[in-house]
Amino acid sequence: MDNQHSQKSIEFKISPDPEQLAVAATQHFIRIATAAIQENGQFTVALAGGSTPKAMFNLLAAPPNANQLDWNKIFIFWGDERCVPADHPDSNYRMAKTTFIDKVPLPPENVFRMAGELEPEEAALLYEHQLRNHFWDSSVFDLILLGMGTDGHTASLFPGTAAVRENKRWVVAHYVEKLAAWRITFTAPLINQARYITFLTAGETKAQVLAEVNHGPYQPDILPSQIIQPDHGTLTWLIDKAAAQALPPNP
Ligand code: 6PG
Repeated sequence: MDNQHSQKSIEFKISPDPEQLAVAATQHFIRIATAAIQENGQFTVALAGGSTPKAMFNLLAAPPNANQLDWNKIFIFWGDERCVPADHPDSNYRMAKTTFIDKVPLPPENVFRMAGELEPEEAALLYEHQLRNHFWDSSVFDLILLGMGTDGHTASLFPGTAAVRENKRWVVAHYVEKLAAWRITFTAPLINQARYITFLTAGETKAQVLAEVNHGPYQPDILPSQIIQPDHGTLTWLIDKAAAQALPPNP
C-alpha cells in the first residue's frame, strides 16, 4: 500500500461469516446515519452494487433496524450503475429497491437513481449535476459503500481504464472492454472526500486480492481499489473470515 497513506485511518472489522458480516454492516450504517442526522439533520449515502450488499440491505429493511432511522432525512445515491433500464435484472438500483428501498418509508424524492437507460455520457453528466446540486454547500457524502471484485476493481473503476485516474469529474461513463458493457461510476476525487468509506467484502475468492490491495505494491491501474484513500475520513473494511485469510494477523 502506498505509504502516502497513513495506516491509522484504515480499520478492518472481521466477522466470522457472511451472515454476521451483514449484521456488522447494518449496525455500521445505522451508527453513521444516526450520528449524521443528529449532527447535520441529514444522512447522505452512496450504495454499492453487486451481490454482497444484498444481505445487509435485507437486514436494514427489517425490524428493528428500519425503525431506528428517520428515513425522511436519509438521501440515497449509488456509487455506480450498469447502463441498463431501472427494471433490468443487472440494475444496482433494482437490487436495492427490491431488497430495502421498497420496504422502508423513504420519500421518493430522497432516492437519486443513476439513469442507466440514458446515453451513458448524458447519464453521467446528469448525475454529477444532481450531486453538485445536493452538495451545494460543499458538504460531501457521509458514507460511501463499496464492493471489490476479484480483479481489485471497485465501483465501476476497472483495471486499465482511464476512469481510475480521473481527477476532476465526480462521475464518468465508460465502456468496459472486459465486460463488453457501459458503466457509470463515481471517481476517486468524489469517493475520497467522504467522511466514511466502507468496503463490504466477503468470501475466500476475495482473500488474495484483498491482501494485495492492502499490503502489496501501490499499483492502482492494476488494483483500482488502491486509489481509494480518504482525504480526511475513515476507510473501513468490513470483511468476513474467509476474505481475511490472506491478511497478516493484525491487518
Ligand atoms: C457493480 C459493483 C461492483 C461490485 C463488485 C463486487 O456494479 O458490480 O458496484 O463494484 O461491488 O464487483 O461485487 P460482488 O459483491 O457481487 O462480489
